[in-house]
Amino acid sequence: MTIELVLEAPAKVNLTLNVLGKRTDGYHELETVMQQINLRDKIFLHTGGRDIRVTSNSSEIPDNEENLAYQAAHLLYSKFSLPTGLQIFIEKNIPVGAGLAGGSTDAAAVIMGINEIFDLRLQREELLELGLDIGSDVPFCVLGGAALARGRGEILTSLPKGPRLEMVLVKPDFQLSTREVYRDFRLEKVQQAPDNAAFLEAWRKCDMIGIVAEMKNVLETVSIEKCPEIQLIKVKLDALGAQKTLMSGSGPSVVGVFTSRDEACKAWETIKGQYRESYLVSSYDRGD
Ligand code: C5P
Repeated sequence: MTIELVLEAPAKVNLTLNVLGKRTDGYHELETVMQQINLRDKIFLHTGGRDIRVTSNSSEIPDNEENLAYQAAHLLYSKFSLPTGLQIFIEKNIPVGAGLAGGSTDAAAVIMGINEIFDLRLQREELLELGLDIGSDVPFCVLGGAALARGRGEILTSLPKGPRLEMVLVKPDFQLSTREVYRDFRLEKVQQAPDNAAFLEAWRKCDMIGIVAEMKNVLETVSIEKCPEIQLIKVKLDALGAQKTLMSGSGPSVVGVFTSRDEACKAWETIKGQYRESYLVSSYDRGD
């Protein structure tokens, strides 16, 4: 008998991102607030066959071992004796190479899906650990909601539900390599680092003024140098009335936060004619 499971895999945006330094293992020590948004891939899992297969409606993602969803499945198959193969179909809605954890969220969904299908009964801590083997953002994608992430991204503190954020997300026609953005990051060049304690304080009070004041991403300058369009998008979203604009992760996606869904919608109506990959999105929490 084949079993089918359909899972949602939400994208994330970084509301703050600070880099504290480079580690001896080559990664950077981070302090970042991440929030899932309602832009989602859909993952279809089908048991059967003898091996792991990945297919997608998108030609932009690999269908082989380079695919993070494939790697996640392979990791679980190497650790557990699972009775049948797995077909993974990825309905791709999240822009690729965008700083939105598109590949990581697919991997997280596959880990959770395999746990469910094969009744492995892995606890959250184990799922988070398996996720970290695939990538720094995968543990957050397993946890979901909003969280402060430290370390490589795996030391996670879930945040209480904050204010619902109404955003316009724009991805320029350009992809950035996370590895290259971190490689070219220089701590001594940082001028505007977020104060995460102040952000969290504002978050707990649902104080939007305090929240947007601390929405800063120290990787912006590195990525803007590689892709000046990021700055142009920020200027355009500002002109369309955004309370704040911020690049997500290592970019090049930019989010504009608006005071209401209506304001966001008006801005989106204008900007979607200029950028093919423009989305009207809001924050997404487990159970939404
Ligand atoms: O963990 P992941 O494979 O997603 O990271 C991609 C690349 O981003 C790493 O190879 C590393 O160069 C960089 N990175 C980093 N510090 C982090 C996360 C990622 O330097 N905390």
